This record gives sequence, structure tokens and C-alpha cells, in this order.
Amino acid sequence: SRTLKPVSTVVAQNGTKNFSTSCQRNFKVVVAGASGGIGQPLALLLKQNPLVTRLALYDIAPVTPGVAVDLSHMNTPAKVSGHKGPEELSAAIKDADVVVIPAGVPRKPGMTRDDLFNTNASIVRDLAVSIAQNAPKAILAIITNPVNSMVPIASEVLKKAGVYDPRRVLGVTTLDVVRAAAFIGEINGVDPRSVTIPVIGGHSGVTIIPLLSQSQPAVKLTDQAKIKALTERIQEAGTEVVKAKAGGGSATLSMAFAGARLADAVLRGLKGDSNVVECAYIKSDLTEAAYFANPVVLGKNGVEKNLGYGQLNEFEQQLLKAAIPELLKNIKTGEDFVKK
Ligand code: NAD
Ligand code: LMR
Repeated sequence: SRTLKPVSTVVAQNGTKNFSTSCQRNFKVVVAGASGGIGQPLALLLKQNPLVTRLALYDIAPVTPGVAVDLSHMNTPAKVSGHKGPEELSAAIKDADVVVIPAGVPRKPGMTRDDLFNTNASIVRDLAVSIAQNAPKAILAIITNPVNSMVPIASEVLKKAGVYDPRRVLGVTTLDVVRAAAFIGEINGVDPRSVTIPVIGGHSGVTIIPLLSQSQPAVKLTDQAKIKALTERIQEAGTEVVKAKAGGGSATLSMAFAGARLADAVLRGLKGDSNVVECAYIKSDLTEAAYFANPVVLGKNGVEKNLGYGQLNEFEQQLLKAAIPELLKNIKTGEDFVKK
């Protein structure tokens, strides 16, 4: 699917013909966990992405072929296929350019993301085994919690299989960025889409570090207590949704929105667009933690460049200090799971 098409006509979403030049713009994207709360709206959004020409939906749920038939009636170019159960996993993954993974159980009130580890670890491990066999060059975007441990699991599996490329394994932290921008937009009274804010570290509680000092436009809060409260709201926003859903799961729609944004950025990078920047949780040597999230440039091989996290103020340095031990623990849990 990586063949370059020198000049081709593609039918755009509105039915008109666009002229495309030398870059690849026909990608196969897989959603693993496609029938779930995140998977279905994520697939709905990806079906509308003009860079997606094949959309493979994989899940163990019986409804999966039906979800695929449903989406296939949308008049957008992506061809949709449904794959149900482990015996159809290879066909789903085969030759994928990008595999987005929201497979696994979500939190209920009172649970931490780490409480999901025992169930979700083997799900992500088995998906990574299939990716190593059927699409070793695919870019993985892991949504499944706990993200801080799932990325090390997938990485270790790919290492064992001899196909690991750290540029191609991303933990999805986009929802933290989306939330931070939404809350700042509200505070500043501006369109939240105009807010740029890096969120670094990982994706759970204290490991989520919004760099409010680097927000553009600047956050209209001068009082340090309010900065602290906003920071904590962003760190606990997932729990805010879990509580509000009262046993009905965790964030799904905002996550689908965020996952589609990250997938689109990965695809634009693969296509050859320049200056594609998103935050993601990746293999990193910036801190003591072997995996760390911050803004990265996405390109033809996944992560092209780690942009680091710039200057932290004193408050943010404290947040970073609190995050590192937790990240180290989460990473070790993931790595040990595969090594044992
Ligand atoms: P859900 O229960 O609604 O959906 C999960 C889907 O995974 C189900 O359709 C289920 O059948 C499927 N599944 C289970 N085992 C599978 C397997 N072995 N292979 C393929 N599919 C399998 O849950 P959800 O609300 O969609 O959440 C999914 C995951 O995403 C959870 O772990 C949740 O904590 C996480 N999440 C992460 C973020 C983030 O910011 N990274 C945000 C929200 C949720
Ligand atoms: C989120 O941040 O919404 C997700 O990680 C789901 C959760 O469990 O909070």
C-alpha cells in the first residue's frame, strides 16, 4: 500500500475530482476495538478522512461486521471491512499503515487506570504480536489504558519480534491537549481551537503535566491558586467524565475526536506534509523515564523529531518531579509483563 502514485485523480469527499501529485495519500488504517464506545465514533470520523482509503474494523464483539456495513453506506471513499474475533485479526492488520488501538476495558467510578492493567495488558500484547507479523512497519497509536504501561508492552513485543522502531509506537495523549485547550478557551473567552498548549509526561493523574506557562494565547489567570486548580482539573478530567457517567464508562466521544485528530496528524506526516506537530507518549531520553510525552514532529516514519518541552517554570518543575517516579513504576510494570 506504500506504492507512490506519480499523478492520479482522486475523488474528493464532495464528489469533485482533485488532482494529486507525487505523495502517497492512500492509507490503510485499522481500528482495533472498533465496536466499543471509542471505536465506533472514531471509525465514523476516520471514514470521513480523505487520506484513509481502507478502514479495517477489528473487535471481538459480534456486532463488528454490522458496524462495518453501517459505515460502508457513507458516501466517502474509504473502503470499510469488518473483522470479528482472533481468527480474523491477521486479515484486519495485514499491510496496515496505521493501527489505532482503543481495545480493552474502561474505568468505573472508584477505579484508577492502573486497575485496568490486568485485563488490558494481554489484549494489547496480542494485538502487538499480530502487528509484528502482519504489518511490522505500521504506526501504532495506543489509546488503551493505562497508556503509560501499554506503550512499553507493545514496544517490548515488537522488540522480541525484531521489528521494533521507536518512531512508530505512540501513546495517545491528545485528549489531555484537547481538554486543556477547551478549558483555556473557556477561561480566556476565545475559540478553543485557537489555543495551543503542550501537555507532557504521561496519561494518568500526576503524570499529566499541562504546561500552562507555554499556552498560546497566554492563560488569563494570574493567581497561582487558580493555575494550580486548572492544572488539577486537566489531570483529573478523565475522572470527571467517569464520575459523570456514573458507571457507564469513561470518555468516549471526546476521545474519538482526539484519536481522529492524532490519526490525521500521523497520516499527514506519512504523506509528507511538513510541520505536523502533536504531543504523544513515545520512547524518549529526555528524562529518567524511558517513555515520555511532549510535542513531536510527525513524518514519513512516524516520529521524525522530538521537540522536547522547553522552559518549565518552578511550579511545572515540581509537577515533573512528582510525575517521574509514577512513570518509572508504570513503565516497569509494562516491561516486566512482557519479559516474564
Ligand atoms: P468499551 O468497553 O466501550 O470498548 C472497548 C472495546 O474493546 C469493546 O468493543 C470490546 O469488545 C473490545 N475488545 C475487548 N477485548 C478485545 C480484544 N482482545 N481485541 C479487540 N477488541 C477487544 O471501552 P471504551 O470506552 O471504548 O475504552 C477503551 C479503552 O480506551 C479503555 O481502556 C479506556 O480506559 C481507554 N481510554 C483511553 C483514553 C486516552 O486518553 N488514552 C481516553 C478514554 C479511554
Ligand atoms: C480519560 O482520560 O478520559 C481516559 O484515560 C479514560 C479514563 O479512565 O479516565
